Amino acid sequence: MTEGTDEAGVASAAVDGEPSDDVVVCSDVTKTYDGARTVVALEDVSLSLSSGSYTAVMGPSGSGKSTLLNLVGGLDTPTAGTVAVDGRDLATLSEAQRARHRGETVGFVFQTFNLMPRLTAAENVALPLVFLGRDRKERGTRAEELLADVGLADRADHLPAELSGGQRQRVAIARALVADPALLLADEPTGNVDTGTGDRIMAEFDTLHEAGNTVLLVTHERRIAERAERIVHVRDGRVREVESV
Ligand SMILES: Nc1ncnc2c1ncn2[C@@H]1O[C@H](COP(=O)(O)OP(=O)(O)OP(=O)(O)O)[C@@H](O)[C@H]1O
Ligand SMILES: [Mg+2]
Repeated sequence: MTEGTDEAGVASAAVDGEPSDDVVVCSDVTKTYDGARTVVALEDVSLSLSSGSYTAVMGPSGSGKSTLLNLVGGLDTPTAGTVAVDGRDLATLSEAQRARHRGETVGFVFQTFNLMPRLTAAENVALPLVFLGRDRKERGTRAEELLADVGLADRADHLPAELSGGQRQRVAIARALVADPALLLADEPTGNVDTGTGDRIMAEFDTLHEAGNTVLLVTHERRIAERAERIVHVRDGRVREVESV
């Protein structure tokens, strides 16, 4: 079953002043990058994520998937349109407020991992808990648990440079999950791992989703996308189709 692009998100967007159970509402979001040549990375994208929903985003390379995730995660601001999370337009928050919002509610798996090079795997995983003020003992225990979940218990003391690409990706996933984020944003989380490891990672996401958290996942793999409740297809910076799975 498919819904029209126009209803994709706007249909469930909050009417002014009325409460909504949407965690994320993107309204007519456009993102352009100015350089030697202006690139329109996203154009008029409207998309809502209801609380506890599980959405996959698919589309060709360069179609705007990472840009969308960065905007929803408050790492970047739209050129036009708004991104509201929990009813707050992210553009109206100060940089400090946005950082706090990210730390408290968002778990982010970056396509390029973004691990801290001088911290060990365990320290990287525990980092979100440092920002949340958890004590050392709890951080250590949680980091150990999460590394075990992604099959890296024996690499806790390794620096990122001492890990393979797929292992780094798994550290990044453990870090994204360590604080039980209300909103998980994952950019190609299984892009660098074998099928078995990919399935294990997806099982972790299922657990987070089943606990009532919201998941937004970018993937090139249809098989992975089908674990979500719906698949948003993007092409040339636009939402072309929203498919219910
Ligand atoms: N910082 C930037 N400056 C200029 N152009 C950018 C920047 N970031 C992204 N773009 C351009 O915006 C478009 C969308 O990029 P984006 O990273 O969102 O694509 P993607 O769908 O995630 O692709 P992939 O599947 O390869 O990861 C691309 O054409 C890219 O070249
Ligand atoms: Mg990308």
